[in-house]
Amino acid sequence: MSGTPRKVALVGAKGMLARMVQASTPPHMAIQGFKRPEFDLTDADQVRRAMEVFRPDVIINCSAFTQVDRCESEEGLATRVNGDGPGCLAAVARDLDATLVHISTDYVFPGDAERPYLEGDATGPISAYGRSKLKGEQAIRESGLIKYFIVRTSWLYGPWGKNFVETILRLAAEREELRIVADQIGCPTYTGDLAAAIFRLLDLEDDQTACGLYGIYHFANEGQCSWYDFACEIVSLARQKGLPVKTRRIEPIKTEQFPLPAKRPAYSVFDTKKYKMAVAASIPSWQKSLSTYFEVR
Ligand SMILES: NC(=O)c1ccc[n+]([C@@H]2O[C@H](COP(=O)([O-])OP(=O)(O)OC[C@H]3O[C@@H](n4cnc5c(N)ncnc54)[C@H](OP(=O)(O)O)[C@@H]3O)[C@@H](O)[C@H]2O)c1
Repeated sequence: MSGTPRKVALVGAKGMLARMVQASTPPHMAIQGFKRPEFDLTDADQVRRAMEVFRPDVIINCSAFTQVDRCESEEGLATRVNGDGPGCLAAVARDLDATLVHISTDYVFPGDAERPYLEGDATGPISAYGRSKLKGEQAIRESGLIKYFIVRTSWLYGPWGKNFVETILRLAAEREELRIVADQIGCPTYTGDLAAAIFRLLDLEDDQTACGLYGIYHFANEGQCSWYDFACEIVSLARQKGLPVKTRRIEPIKTEQFPLPAKRPAYSVFDTKKYKMAVAASIPSWQKSLSTYFEVR
């Protein structure tokens, strides 16, 4: 890892994950952010020109149309950003001999599994957002680019973004009762852990003996829970930390009692063995990382 730092282009640099990636960049990487309006993923010429000028060794794509419910009514735009955009980045990475790291989602799965999802399991999105993100994965895989990591993650939270933890903290300070969906099971993921995972995967490229390292990886914090369990843990930590909490009761409800435009997978727990074996590292539990977030937020 000595010598000139690797040049990293961070796409979607204003987003929640991107800002954590930027803050976590190790010294052997030199990162530059690319963001709208100068860099719009739906403008293929602009994307290619910017990358040809910067000539990155690595492109990390953290940009996406992430408003899951809006994607239902704007599927065309969702497909351009989440589907065609990654394909365009992959073509540029291929031509510049760069490595692409792309972030994908548990929403590519239907959510009817009875065990944690493996990377090779059949996909089957049930929302416009999920379809658009799956198109992005397919576009990368069909681009002819070899050096890519598609990292699927779930239930992301961290500093610099709107997220479930902040929503619950706000509601807990305002309301005596919260009603939270208890029949969707997944795994929360702290952006700090995901950012570290991205750089660990990239460091595998320095190991000349590593083979078959590229492809899809699942990454989430260890364990599983419902949104209800997650909310209970957030409120309990808030009390321990002396944050304002008005909530006396948290009621578990069913998905149909909280209707939203986009369907969510009922079960989207990831099997993360492939990642853990590749980097020879463990992943913190979701409870441990939630308490880490409380220290830094
Ligand atoms: N949040 C989650 O729970 C979750 C779960 C699983 C997977 N993921 C994936 O994780 C990644 C990061 O998510 P996040 O929560 O950090 O997202 P985020 O905070 O919503 O950030 C996404 C960024 O993408 C940018 N963007 C949107 N359209 C663009 C375009 N046409 N051209 C260039 N940039 C564009 C946005 O720019 P503006 O600031 O200009 O709008 C925003 O800064 C995404 O790929 C997402 O699909 C997220």
